[in-house]
Amino acid sequence: MNESVLPSVLATGQLQSRVQRRGRYVAESMRHPGKMLPSIAAQVISVFTEPGELVVDPMCGIGTTLVEATHLGRHAAGMEYEADFAGLTAANVQHARSQGATGFARVACGDARNIATVFADLRGTAGLVLTSPPYGVRTHGHVRCGSREGGGPVEKSNHRYSKDKGNLAHRPLPQLMEGFGQILGGCGELLRPGGVVAVTVRPIRVSGRLVDLPGQVIETAEAAGLVLTHRLAALLCGLRDGRLVPRASFFQMLEAWRGQEKGQPVCAAAHEDLLILRKRGDED
Ligand SMILES: C[S@@+](CC[C@H](N)C(=O)[O-])C[C@H]1O[C@@H](n2cnc3c(N)ncnc32)[C@H](O)[C@@H]1O
Repeated sequence: MNESVLPSVLATGQLQSRVQRRGRYVAESMRHPGKMLPSIAAQVISVFTEPGELVVDPMCGIGTTLVEATHLGRHAAGMEYEADFAGLTAANVQHARSQGATGFARVACGDARNIATVFADLRGTAGLVLTSPPYGVRTHGHVRCGSREGGGPVEKSNHRYSKDKGNLAHRPLPQLMEGFGQILGGCGELLRPGGVVAVTVRPIRVSGRLVDLPGQVIETAEAAGLVLTHRLAALLCGLRDGRLVPRASFFQMLEAWRGQEKGQPVCAAAHEDLLILRKRGDED
């Protein structure tokens, strides 16, 4: 598939996230609360880059973008604020190499607001920046019922990135967006002419209210010198026999139930917005 025949809806949820990762990522990766679906990364990288090109993820978590890029013969560079996750990225990249991935990848641990300085040697060389911002602690994590028979207390785990207030995930939304804008500005300096920035993001609910995070990301990106060229849907649900196979998380279902109990028409998200942006002046 290339960009000229790109459909507006990508069937990226045909397999459950954990099935997509099984054997391809180290098991400890599961403790990251907000990973990108590997099939989203793989499809975006395949469409917007050629083998041998450089893909950058400034907030790389456990390294999904880097792993999928190297399996597709692209090279990759990632930054991650949390040392634990940066270590998991390194482990996942090494695992990919052991499975025959031909691309090379490097990861730096630190604040990606400085990415253009940290990766100064990569300025003007990236074909694609692919990333997703953190959404805070509400929508993430794993749950377990405290009793085998059900009815026991629900235990949450892996729902926090860390306790470090410097992590943008832990900042109020305006500060998260300000920091994300600085990161996108720095990434713009790494792009080669004609390069693309792709951001996956979905609306969230905060205290029952729908927050248009994709809309805020578009405004933030445009203030950072980027222009939106496509707005696509990357499915989180599967498609079988003409029907959707829902894969909503416990937290999404909980928000939907809470809203519906109050008589509100709340739905659980079945897709992420995939925003495709280019540097202003580069969009034609
Ligand atoms: C939504 S997650 C990205 C997950 C990633 N796409 C993956 O599949 O593993 C966002 C990440 O941004 C990281 N982060 C937060 N603030 C950051 C900053 N200032 N610089 C770099 N990374 C940051 C968080 O620790 C988190 O791992």
